[in-house]
Amino acid sequence: MSSNEHKFATKAVHAGQHGDPVTGAVVSPMFMTSTYEYTPEKMARYLAGDKKGIFTYGRSRNPTQNELQNKICALSGGEAALVTASGMSAISLALLSCVHSGDHVISCSTVYSGTYNLFTKIFEELNIEVTFLEEMTEEALEKALKPNTKVLYAESVYNPTLVVSDLKFIAEWAKSKGVISMIDNTFMSPYLLRPLEYGIDVVVHSTTKYLNGHGDLIGGVIISNKDFIENIRSSIYQELGPTPSPFSCWLMLRGMKTLHIRMREHCSNAMTIAKWLEKQDKIEKVIYPGLESHPQHELAKKQFGAKGYGGMVSFVVKGGMEGATRFISNIKLAKYCVSLGDLDTMIQQPATMTHGKISPTERERMGIPDGMIRLSVGIEDSEDIIHDLEQALESV
Ligand SMILES: Cc1ncc(COP(=O)(O)O)c(C=O)c1O
Repeated sequence: MSSNEHKFATKAVHAGQHGDPVTGAVVSPMFMTSTYEYTPEKMARYLAGDKKGIFTYGRSRNPTQNELQNKICALSGGEAALVTASGMSAISLALLSCVHSGDHVISCSTVYSGTYNLFTKIFEELNIEVTFLEEMTEEALEKALKPNTKVLYAESVYNPTLVVSDLKFIAEWAKSKGVISMIDNTFMSPYLLRPLEYGIDVVVHSTTKYLNGHGDLIGGVIISNKDFIENIRSSIYQELGPTPSPFSCWLMLRGMKTLHIRMREHCSNAMTIAKWLEKQDKIEKVIYPGLESHPQHELAKKQFGAKGYGGMVSFVVKGGMEGATRFISNIKLAKYCVSLGDLDTMIQQPATMTHGKISPTERERMGIPDGMIRLSVGIEDSEDIIHDLEQALESV
């Protein structure tokens, strides 16, 4: 158990962990059960509305899930959290709990493709309108605002263009208009950035990425105040049923214990690699918030630079689609795959992979050229990662 006064690293190790009072096990056991036996006393308490410590059915809650949520809350500065079976289910549930047919959402223009498809396909079918903003300026927001606007949505650092959101501005603007501010903080993790501290109302993560960090599960989380979370848990969470398995929750509890150490390595490797990429003449452009050439370097410095600038680096290879394809197919050490935030370095071409289902015109509007490569820098030795990139660049 940890107190709120503890530092981040101490909370990452201890928060949420109860161990096992029966055996003395330090690591809490996993509760692999779908249902729970009642006693008449428990049932009477439950029916009277006192649900504390009472578990009923695994779709609504599980002790391992509770431990994980407590750890995430301690690290994110949130009152309550709800874990889900994927990042997409966390995003969908969080949004669907506050928007309904006839409502309107304002979103940053570049979002993860799953979120983009949710906004443009499913929301359209549900008669929920979304306005995408290329720049989150006061002028653009005022222009986009409608009487039925319910949510202002953004990624803390956009996927894959690495634009940095100004959280204080977003939180204050949304509050002043009675709109809920929601941030996908997947690229940063609570080690680097805690949007709730800036006044953001709701934070979502794909825990598949940095929070778990080991590439062995799919998961998501919503973090907010108690009322917001309890409203989701008692309604659409129950009905749609996106509950993660206790095993995924247990693995995540283990993964999160090293979040601070992993993030330091990701950040330091990413900075070394971004600086090296900047010097290569076969590279057109390097995007990394830690570089002075990044348009929002000063904002990034203020919001998270003291700890690091993240493990994601995007760059544009000369030669467009062909250049990028040649480069990527000659990579040997890094894994050529979607996803990010794992221990292994991962490389992908957004135009053909994560954002491949989005039309070329839309991709251009989002700032995703065909030659763009997104690198999720792992925790290997940076010299080996550079050597791999160098030999692949020779093919371009
Ligand atoms: C920024 C961001 N948000 C959400 C998701 C979706 O997460 P999941 O794959 O866990 O559903 C992803 C997946 O890559 C992502 O990059």
